[in-house]
Amino acid sequence: MIIAVDGPVAAGKGTLARRLAAALGYDYLDTGLLYRGVAFRVLAAGGDPGDGPAAAAAAATLTADELGRPELRGERVGEAASQVAAQPAVRAALLAFQRGFACRPPGGRGAVLDGRDIGTVVCPGAAVKLFVTASEEARVQRRHRELLARGQPAPLSEVRADLRRRDQRDSQRAIAPLAPAAGAHLLDTTGMSIEAAFAAAMEIISAQLLTDERGSPDPSRRS
Ligand code: C5P
Repeated sequence: MIIAVDGPVAAGKGTLARRLAAALGYDYLDTGLLYRGVAFRVLAAGGDPGDGPAAAAAAATLTADELGRPELRGERVGEAASQVAAQPAVRAALLAFQRGFACRPPGGRGAVLDGRDIGTVVCPGAAVKLFVTASEEARVQRRHRELLARGQPAPLSEVRADLRRRDQRDSQRAIAPLAPAAGAHLLDTTGMSIEAAFAAAMEIISAQLLTDERGSPDPSRRS
């Protein structure tokens, strides 16, 4: 059982995906961390995240042990992650790990993956696909609060500019751009609490699984 959760920066997909996995007893993979791990390696070596071969080499040798570093969560690494994520060789190097996790999750029951291309590229056959969004203003406010809580305050104008630049790059890149997958359920979390978003997502998942059980699955998810 695979649940795909995609969406732009600070839409609330990470918190939601983690909650869904915990409630369902599934394993959770934050795929953004993989791109952040690659970006961190390139930056730590003094490299340029826009340098395709350097990013591809970093992706090819990335290990799971490196993904726990708190520095990966910073804004600079997020921006660099978006740059390395536009490189086809980087995406290719990370694909097998993501698919392996989705198809053979450590706990054996199911997997929830969140990212930008889970429903479109990594797991187009996922049982349920969610595309989580929120208004730009709501996302800016959320990211601003997150940074404050992490002790990294930044002016709202800077948070807004960073968010726009990253979403634009992620949506307009040639490979695996951020976009709702065919058959994805849109969930707009503007003005919703985490609890309300979780309840709405659980309702979508239950309804989708019930529909599939009754034998009328969405043909777009049969590939
Ligand atoms: O989700 P997070 O903000 O941590 O992701 C960092 C960057 O990694 C994104 O801006 C995006 O460029 C890239 N990414 C991606 N595909 C995914 C997950 C993340 O391109 N599945």
